[in-house]
Amino acid sequence: MLDTIRDKFRPTPQPKNTDDVVGLPNPPYHVGIIMDGNGRWAKANNKTRFQGHRAGTENLRRILTDSVDFGVKMLTIYAFSTENWTRPPREVKGLMKILEMVIDRELEELHQNGVRLRHLGQLNRLDPALQQKILHALDYTKNNEDLIVNVAFNYGGRNEIIEAVQKLINDNVTSEAVTEALLSDYMYTAGSPDPDLIIRTSGEFRTSNFLIWQAAYAEYYITPTYWPDFDREEYYRALSEFCNRDRRYGGRNK
Ligand code: IPE
Ligand code: IPE
Ligand code: MG
Repeated sequence: MLDTIRDKFRPTPQPKNTDDVVGLPNPPYHVGIIMDGNGRWAKANNKTRFQGHRAGTENLRRILTDSVDFGVKMLTIYAFSTENWTRPPREVKGLMKILEMVIDRELEELHQNGVRLRHLGQLNRLDPALQQKILHALDYTKNNEDLIVNVAFNYGGRNEIIEAVQKLINDNVTSEAVTEALLSDYMYTAGSPDPDLIIRTSGEFRTSNFLIWQAAYAEYYITPTYWPDFDREEYYRALSEFCNRDRRYGGRNK
């Protein structure tokens, strides 16, 4: 018994060099990432918070490439929550600016690499010019299939559920017609499978309003590493740990 427990918690053997790894035997299809810890990373490295967020964005580029290498097909990244508006205006402005810069500078390369961008969240509180940029990026990449990247920006799970209920009411859906499948179709993630794995960096054990409907049976991987330092090797570790999880969905496998 104790051995079984020890086996379960024994760290997954690591490849010596993750560059040699082409893919995992059974990678999660859909990975969500709560990219947390940019501020603490900045403090630890004597940088400004803005520089921390920039470093986080640089890391995202690497993780996108790694996702393709490791066989992940869909990535949902939590970039700005509905609660992040409560931060000082300067920081909020910086985060908006970073999204704009990413679209301006990276869109063509993302497109060339077969990335399809999608947006989860409310667009209408964003600056109209930024809204236009986002809509253009979604349209420009809409036929790509190598990696789907859902950008959760001005996203909140509770807000998403409220909007879904409002749309159901506006569509005159009867109470009997409301099922899990139907409600899922009213979420921002309509048509996408639920996340298999959610990674949270920087050690907080909470969802912070991320995909609260969709993650009912997601596996979680939480690491103390700050997001800018979350590298290919640790990503591989998260994915291989996922491959060793026993997902039971409330039933019994044995
Ligand atoms: C995550 O980093 C990025 C966003 C929430 C936009 P934080 O800015 O939350 O970093 P910490 O948690 O303060 O270290
Ligand atoms: C979650 O991080 C939101 C994003 C990563 C965008 P926060 O830093 O906002 O979460 P809390 O405040 O620690 O719960
Ligand atoms: Mg944080």
